[in-house]
Amino acid sequence: MQVTLKIFRYNPEVDKKIHYETYNFEAQETDRILDLLEHVKGYFDGTLSFRRSCAHGVCGSDAMRINGRNMLACKVLVRDVGGQITIEPLLGLKIQKDLIVDMEPFFDNYKKVLPWFINDSPLPADERERLQSPQQRARFDDTTKCILCAACTTSCPTFWANDDYLGPAAIVTAHRFIYDSRDEAAAERLHILSETSGVARCHTAYNCTLACPREIEITRAIGELKMSMITGKLD
Ligand code: SF4
Ligand code: FES
Repeated sequence: MQVTLKIFRYNPEVDKKIHYETYNFEAQETDRILDLLEHVKGYFDGTLSFRRSCAHGVCGSDAMRINGRNMLACKVLVRDVGGQITIEPLLGLKIQKDLIVDMEPFFDNYKKVLPWFINDSPLPADERERLQSPQQRARFDDTTKCILCAACTTSCPTFWANDDYLGPAAIVTAHRFIYDSRDEAAAERLHILSETSGVARCHTAYNCTLACPREIEITRAIGELKMSMITGKLD
């Protein structure tokens, strides 16, 4: 089938303003959007810039707006979106070149929630590891699936308006550790989330949940954290 790919372009070294370029070529319905971008880069313009790594929905590096919605280019097929395709960078982060945005503010917010396992208590004398029941593991299973693609945070109107808002991805990571029965820093993370840059800024727009390529129930996770702040309970 014939596809028309309209791609956002901006090279700060030569362009005074952003513009779009359009490419027409033959593609298969089963081609991924990432394949189309590689085709443009290989056959039309080698300067086209975008991030990608695994090409299999694992690394999270190729989130972008495809026909106005945040998606991973490697997980969307031509037949999912049709032959008229507009590709733009994520919103809310500074554009570095073409489809590449500056991810530093995103990762700065991520680091604020202490995204690592914290437990300095010694193990009991007869134990070699910190044990956890299947039920305890299930409590935070959903939020372990995050691949840090930023599709959620950059679809959030609160983040667009307040770049100090931690954003759904950082909150999802906080959830993953707060409800881990082996971790000892839940109170510290809940305190971080209770600050003005935290979960109170979420107005339940639901964009994050719709955008997540891992189908994490982000809005529900944020609701659980709000409830834990009120009740002080983690179950
Ligand atoms: Fe991406 Fe989903 Fe993680 Fe957000 S929660 S960064 S959309 S994988
Ligand atoms: Fe890794 Fe798409 S390239 S998730």
